[in-house]
Amino acid sequence: MTETRTDAGPEALRRRAVAALTAARERTALLTSCVEDGELTAQHSPLMSPLVWDLAHIGNQEELWLWRAVAGREALRPEIDSLYDAFEHPRATRPSLPLLAPGEARTYAADVRLRVLDVLERAEFDGRPLLRDAFAFGLVAQHEQQHDETMLITHQLRKGPAVLTAPPPPAGPRDPLPAEVLVPGGPFTMGTSDEPWALDNERPAHIRDVPAFHIDTVPVTNGAYLAFIADGGYEERRWWRPEGWAQIREHGIAAPLFWRRDGAQWLRRRFGVTEPVPEDEPVLHVSWYEADAYARWAGRRLPTEAEWEKAARHDPASGRSRRYPWGDADPRPEHANLGQRHLRPAPAGSYPEGASPLGVRQLIGDVWEWTASDFLPYPGFTVFPYKEYSEVFFGPDHKVLRGGSFGVDPVACRGTFRNWDLPVRRQIFAGFRTARSAELD
Ligand SMILES: [Fe+2]
Repeated sequence: MTETRTDAGPEALRRRAVAALTAARERTALLTSCVEDGELTAQHSPLMSPLVWDLAHIGNQEELWLWRAVAGREALRPEIDSLYDAFEHPRATRPSLPLLAPGEARTYAADVRLRVLDVLERAEFDGRPLLRDAFAFGLVAQHEQQHDETMLITHQLRKGPAVLTAPPPPAGPRDPLPAEVLVPGGPFTMGTSDEPWALDNERPAHIRDVPAFHIDTVPVTNGAYLAFIADGGYEERRWWRPEGWAQIREHGIAAPLFWRRDGAQWLRRRFGVTEPVPEDEPVLHVSWYEADAYARWAGRRLPTEAEWEKAARHDPASGRSRRYPWGDADPRPEHANLGQRHLRPAPAGSYPEGASPLGVRQLIGDVWEWTASDFLPYPGFTVFPYKEYSEVFFGPDHKVLRGGSFGVDPVACRGTFRNWDLPVRRQIFAGFRTARSAELD
């Protein structure tokens, strides 16, 4: 049971790093140039930073990791470091900080980028761990793309008319798919030791024995979720964990975030547009508690993180774990709904070319998928390059999400990638699928 790695010489690595950094900056520019400067400094929700904070924070992290740590150069703006330290200032307080103005933030980030491209041009990708496989450049590109997804969430929370547009995703399958897929029991390789830009929490590769289970072929749809609502799912305490029940009672939650009922019809607000809830699309903007309650109502449960990864990566024919459900090739548009190409999930069952060897669909892209599991280190975990990336979040407070959403860039998405969040979180682009143990057959 081995993995294959994508071997790349230094010039290919350099090209990959330039392309990843450039793509990230183009997306940052798109997300911050479509609104007036006044909207960049406004706080659209206490859950989020003003967009102008993200903009300068992206530049500041790039300066810290690539200009200072990798190139060993003098700090450009040491006086702003603490303003853009995510651990020093919670999101709700960031608007009251003396932040760089939008023009200043853009100039700063662009200045850092010019210097960094020069560093990249001369870099040698061996020796120091930060430079191996151009890791630090990949880390910074992923960091910017992750903030781009955060900024996309801010756009979703923002009131007012639509400013972002994108074509609709491809149509769903014409013929119905089997409701679930049986994943056979036995060991598989979880995590990775040789994916060049994998982050510390994805490492190391290790063997997990996962008993046989059934998993939904596609994520739970709005239509299926509407049946839960219509059956009184939000009114019956027995489906809910006590903390989840307390949350929905306290906040009057009776449907996914951004939904409202208009007579007999359910409507949702999506990037400034109000539209009927499409029944064939994966459900979005539900908390872990809502996903967990739905699964219990359906007589099922959320998959564990190991089950999710086995469904996504394990190839029963060869016994090895793939980088992605479809194989080892980097994602292409026909594989998955990634990269903000569309501003919504595709209908359930889309992307047949992205299916896993066993036929599970849409594991990558469309919606982040809540799993049953707490965010914990793998056996043999070592912090790299800093403990604030993952280690400080390990423990029972955070639940793992897998697979990435339509708002995730391919550089920050793979079969081993782990995301985590609080179980009450609803504004993220998260949905879920359900599972059941096969011994109950
Ligand atoms: Fe950050």
